[in-house]
This record gives sequence, C-alpha cells and structure tokens, in this order.
Amino acid sequence: MTSDATPFQWIPKASEIAREAGASLREFLAQGVETEYKGDVDLVTVADRTVEKLIRTRLAESFPDHGIYGEEGTRDRLDQEFRWYVDPLDGTTNFAHGVPHFCVSLGLEQRPSGLSPDQDGTLVAGVIYDPMQDELFSAERGRGAHLDGKPISVSRIPELAESLIATGFPSRKRHDSPNIHFYHEFTLRSHGVRRAGSAALDLAYVASGRFEAFWEFQLNPWDTAAGFLLIEEAGGRITDFAGAPFSLDSREVLASNGLIHDELVGLFSDLFAGRNLASIPTPAEFAARRAERSTIAN
Ligand code: IPD
Ligand code: CA
Ligand code: CA
Repeated sequence: MTSDATPFQWIPKASEIAREAGASLREFLAQGVETEYKGDVDLVTVADRTVEKLIRTRLAESFPDHGIYGEEGTRDRLDQEFRWYVDPLDGTTNFAHGVPHFCVSLGLEQRPSGLSPDQDGTLVAGVIYDPMQDELFSAERGRGAHLDGKPISVSRIPELAESLIATGFPSRKRHDSPNIHFYHEFTLRSHGVRRAGSAALDLAYVASGRFEAFWEFQLNPWDTAAGFLLIEEAGGRITDFAGAPFSLDSREVLASNGLIHDELVGLFSDLFAGRNLASIPTPAEFAARRAERSTIAN
C-alpha cells in the first residue's frame, strides 16, 4: 500500500515538463503569434506546435519507453504499456486573442497488454498547468488531487440551484451542436454557466471546488485525460450524459462534485426527451413586447 511518505512516481517530472511548456506559452503570448485555421473557426498557432514538440522531447527523455498521443499529431510508441495524452495548449482561441486563460494538460494512462485500441486503460497521473495564474493541478491514482502541492477536493454544494457550472462549445461542425439549448436550460437553473474556453481548466476547477460541474459534447482524450483523474481523486464523479462510466472515447463528459450528479443526469434525460423545458422569449417576441411598451409610453 502507498503511504503518504512515498514519493509521487510521475507527478514531479510531469510538473517540471508542464511548467517548462507553460513558460514557453507565456513567451509566445508576450511576443504575439500568427493564427492559422485548422478548419471553420478551429485555430492553431506556432505555439501549439512548438510546445507539443517540446513536451514530446522532454517526455521521451524522461520516459523513453512511454507512448505519446498529442493533439498536434504526435503518435509515438502507442503499443507501449504507458501512454501520455498531451494537449500542449488547451484554450487556443483564448490564447490567439490574448485572453490569459489556457493551460498545458498531460494525462498518463496505463494500458495492460491485450487491450484493443478502443478500450481504456487506467489513468494513473495527470497534470494541468495554468501558466498565467501559475497554478499547477496534479493527481496520481490513489494519492489524491493537489493544487500547488496542497490537497484539493470538490465542493459540498448539494443542489444545482446553488451551483456555478461550466461548459464549452466545439470549434468544428458548430452547426451540429445542440449545446446552446443546454446552456440556456442550465443557466436558468443555476447561479450561472461559465464558458471560459479551456476544458482542462474547467475540469480542474470542478476538482478544486470552484465549479460544481462541467459538461461538454465532442471532447478528445487530450482534453479530458488529466482532468478525468483529477475529478476522481478529488472525490467527484465523471460520466457520460446518461450517468454511464466516462471513458476517454466517450466524447461527452459530465463531471461534478458528485452531490448534484444525479440531478444533472436527470436533467439531461429530460432535455433530450424535450421535457420540462424552460421558456424564454424569442428575439422577435421580445422585440414585439419592447415595441408595445414604447407605444404605450408615448
Ligand atoms: C478546446 C478548449 C475549449 C473547448 C473545445 C476544445 P483547444 O481545446 O478546451 O474549452 O470548448 O471543445 O477543443 O482546441 O483550445 O485545445
Ligand atoms: Ca483542447
Ligand atoms: Ca490544444
């Protein structure tokens, strides 16, 4: 059994790498970088690519027999027992506009031999580093979750009506996403829904009790791997929208403090079935009422 005195196995190196990567992102932000389009409004910058290369080099130096799966195309040694999921810059749209809310996310999965490519192994370590706040969120399986080395846990708020929650919207195939309807419904039932632009930080904020919950459609393993473990180690719950266990390929994530989880799953089921929808005026109805009010006033 692991005692508290046992040194962390992966976190120290992963933290060092995430900090170096974050320092590089800070420098790129200060210099200003050109933005390219990967498609639609899906942005990428030289910072995303350079920092993925840096992380790939550092991980290979420290863990030469580990695999690496990165957002900007790295697919190294994927047949190995250990695999890092790397998002070198989560929050590229913020970064490209000079908004200082983005992070580096590194999640380590252990994959016993014989797993098929679509089966998950076990997440064993995760680090999420926000270089602008200099905040480092970390977790190792069975060892709790930490922020800058201090233990963190999810919040104790027991109901959605008292919760601050978060979501995100895809930058690809935006017209296929129904999420604005969920945003509307959850906004009317909570203290508010933040759309801050970094899924990994959203998950870290649930793990540290700042948000009560986070959901998003269409995420990728590099967005969620580290946050997945942080949520579990911080005492929260993470599933798909139906409450089934989350897996890296789920592509839909619902993470919470655990206490409001069943309420959220119930609401997802209602909203998908078109039940209990809250009504707000359409822009045309609102404009008609406004015009009516101004006619009466005059
Ligand atoms: C994006 C961010 C954003 C989320 C998008 C992601 P990227 O990642 O996490 O918050 O809403 O779905 O793609 O592209 O900045 O690494
Ligand atoms: Ca991302
Ligand atoms: Ca990214």
